[in-house]
Amino acid sequence: MISLPSFNLPKSFSSFSLSAIGKSKGVVGLDIGSSRIKIAEVKSNKGHYELVNIAQIDLLPDTIVDGQIIDGNHVSDCISRVFTEQKIQGQQIATSLSGNAVIVKKINLPVMGLEELRDQINWEAQQHIPFDIQDVNLDYHVLEGDAESEMMDVLLVACKKDMVSQLTQVIAQAGKTTSIVDVDSFALQNAYEINYVPGANQTVVLLNIGASVTNINIVRGAASIFTRDVSMGGNQYTDTLQKKFNLTFEDAEILKRGNIPEGCSASIDDAFQVLQGVTEILAGEIQRTLDFFHQQSPEGEKIVGMLVAGGGSKVANLVPYLSERFGIYVEPFDPFRNLNVNNDKFDGEYLREYAPDMAVAVGLALRSDG
Ligand SMILES: Nc1ncnc2c1ncn2[C@@H]1O[C@H](COP(=O)(O)OP(=O)(O)OP(=O)(O)O)[C@@H](O)[C@H]1O
Ligand SMILES: [Mg+2]
Repeated sequence: MISLPSFNLPKSFSSFSLSAIGKSKGVVGLDIGSSRIKIAEVKSNKGHYELVNIAQIDLLPDTIVDGQIIDGNHVSDCISRVFTEQKIQGQQIATSLSGNAVIVKKINLPVMGLEELRDQINWEAQQHIPFDIQDVNLDYHVLEGDAESEMMDVLLVACKKDMVSQLTQVIAQAGKTTSIVDVDSFALQNAYEINYVPGANQTVVLLNIGASVTNINIVRGAASIFTRDVSMGGNQYTDTLQKKFNLTFEDAEILKRGNIPEGCSASIDDAFQVLQGVTEILAGEIQRTLDFFHQQSPEGEKIVGMLVAGGGSKVANLVPYLSERFGIYVEPFDPFRNLNVNNDKFDGEYLREYAPDMAVAVGLALRSDG
């Protein structure tokens, strides 16, 4: 069985009290992944952001399967435990869904006013979403387009109601209130906008490689122009290592991080080859997404780079491999890039190591600023 360390902040910070620097007006970003819960708190003041708290805790395997929370008690226990241990005082939560729970579609409609759109959107959604409209929470966003055009693009986002209520229930069971339910890809996009302040015509790919899902979001300026979730992530590496070298899940996780577990006959080179094979499959999925995007998008849409978040992005050689394969710059996502960070409270090494993992949680915490 995997132990349940909450990979905590530096010791000095765990005794820190929020009131010492004034109340955080914001929400707490709570990213409930299938392998781990990540938490971030950010204080904002007139466009400046300060990191208040980050924390993470492992979930037992099979707690969340295919986006379904199987063991809600375990999830809410973990949330309560981290809040208590880390003295996180915020009670309002911004959280998110991804994968099967969410459908994001770009639809093309005749130009109309916002009121008319509001009246029509349910009917339009029914044409594009393969679920009963009664069973989903619907949101939409008009994308910027050609002012001359008679048509407009609208981004439609539908979250399955039962998945939303599952999520809010475990949060309620931990004694917190959910204020915002977001989508992983868009939380990452929010972290990108605030940390990277992109130019209006700069198109990049934001990747979030989790344990079971990889979110791919193509963003022009600060707006999403294409998203897709792929049911593949860090677990695929672990599974493949397990099968290849006959290892337990825990030992395969150790090997995946470049350490040889006790009693394992594989060498680092053997493991590296296996990891590389999975990376190539994942890169193939990304390639297919980009090809599809290029077929659909106006000619000349040039992707200049890729920022990679999620724990799965830390697999050896993944970042350089993607850069070589796609011929663009690829970098680990840094959600602390534009945040003030008190170096006496946070260990720089820890922040660097866990920056990609914390990206969605920070993007959620930054939602408090509107
Ligand atoms: N240093 C590392 N090297 C390789 N893999 C790593 C490393 N650290 C974490 N991982 C992997 O990252 C994955 C967890 O990442 P993350 O926390 O982003 O996923 P999650 O949010 O729990 O999952 P999902 O979003 O898919 O539900 C696991 O598969 C884990 O093994
Ligand atoms: Mg995740």
